[in-house]
Amino acid sequence: MDAQGVHIETHPREGEPVFSAGRPDPCAMVLFGATGDLAERKLFPALFELARSNLLPEHFAIVAFSRSPLEDKAFREHVREGLKKFARTQPVDEAAWKTFSERIECVSGGYDDPDTFKRLSDKLADVSKRHKTGDNQLYYMATPASTFPQIIHSLAGAGLLTREEQPGQKPWRRLIIEKPFGHDLESARELNRELSAVLDEKQVFRIDHYLGKETVQNILVFRFANAIFEPLWNRQHIDHVEITAAETIGVEGRGGFYDETGVLRDMVQNHLLQVLALCAMEPPVSFAAEDIRDEKNKVFRALRPVEGSDVPDHVVVGQYQGYQDEKGVKKGSRTPTYVALKMNVDSWRWQGVPFYLRAGKNLKRRMTEVSIHFKSVPIGLFSGGGATCQRLQPNVLTLRIQPHEGIALSFESKVPGEDVNIGGVTMDMDYAESFKKPVPEAYERLLLDCMRGNATLFARQDSVEQAWAYITPILRALETDAGGKLHTYEKGSTGPEAANALPAKNGRRWSTL
Ligand code: BG6
Repeated sequence: MDAQGVHIETHPREGEPVFSAGRPDPCAMVLFGATGDLAERKLFPALFELARSNLLPEHFAIVAFSRSPLEDKAFREHVREGLKKFARTQPVDEAAWKTFSERIECVSGGYDDPDTFKRLSDKLADVSKRHKTGDNQLYYMATPASTFPQIIHSLAGAGLLTREEQPGQKPWRRLIIEKPFGHDLESARELNRELSAVLDEKQVFRIDHYLGKETVQNILVFRFANAIFEPLWNRQHIDHVEITAAETIGVEGRGGFYDETGVLRDMVQNHLLQVLALCAMEPPVSFAAEDIRDEKNKVFRALRPVEGSDVPDHVVVGQYQGYQDEKGVKKGSRTPTYVALKMNVDSWRWQGVPFYLRAGKNLKRRMTEVSIHFKSVPIGLFSGGGATCQRLQPNVLTLRIQPHEGIALSFESKVPGEDVNIGGVTMDMDYAESFKKPVPEAYERLLLDCMRGNATLFARQDSVEQAWAYITPILRALETDAGGKLHTYEKGSTGPEAANALPAKNGRRWSTL
């Protein structure tokens, strides 16, 4: 029984999984930005958890690349310290660490220095022999976006990037790029041009860690593995859709980066639009990567443009009080740390159904979820007046992405008693509780998928550009007076009051934060 008293039985199936993820190929992973925050907080903990659970390829090595001089022993110690803080399973398993640490080697030098890349090339040839990695190479760009072109150029110059001519060609070369993929539509196109000059699209893995979250992956399973929801999943039955990504943290020492980025580039262009696409897409013809990516791309193409003087009617931005005192943030900065948007998907299925999105830092509660608000019942059978007169609440289906990962459905029920009294109840599925399994970290799944060559959970060039095509005019308007006011909000609040006007204009309101 859960808190609401609803009993949920799970029936895990015996036998083979519906889709077997498959074994990852042996490979060497070159990590650019090895001493950075992302590597310490996310990448090494994910790789270590995979090593501990025996999921990494048997033959695997990491070449940590850094601009500042790195020595193997000291760097391994640095990684170990990070794992003490950020590893998913604590305390750090000593036996697993010993084997894992022996797989880490270092190379340091300038991103523009051909000698450094010659050394990297020699190191990789040597690593391939010693660790039997079959000369497969995975390059992970955990560096600022401004360094990507130079690194790509230097790798290509050292002969380390070869274009895949045949699918499944070995040895392979793959490149993982961290977001932001560009700064706007033009720079995203430029980056994609640089990538496609040296690599085939199949070799490029644009990581959006939201797509690796179990609960985000479950959106498609929920929609397409159940018969009862999909017939309702359209404008006939759905009133509006709400997607929220509220964080309690601020810019966390990343003031310089964040001030150049802002919430639209940091959270909306990528994470939230990807979630929206999974909720709004048509059923794919198969679960193959390109079929799913094709359907998502159609959603991006159907987003109704919002530009110029339309922006204030569709977009509300805010900045938390004290943001400008954060280290690295410019005084007088107009970078938004909160945004609320009203979006429309101009497709047959979604005509007239608004999608409300909001994301922000330093808010009251950490909550990432999608709420599907169904339409009201067609007639007020229960509005007869007197004691039985009730205001019925429409059904809401909530896909909780984090925390308390799960799915909840609210519905109306008769309150026990002689009068007809109606109360709201919720059926609630808690992911971890139902399956009694820890939910893996997104990066664990995504790193393995790249080693398997499975791009399903990565963003494709066309959809990245489509997402920028939607966001860029909004960014441009916000840079001028046309975009409307930048509101301030208190830390720990629900964001600027002005955001309430977006759904309120059509008689709706945000779910409580
Ligand atoms: C990152 C953003 O991509 O996602 C961060 O750069 C944000 O600013 C983070 O805090 C949120 O991720 P999650 O997994 O904690 O929701």
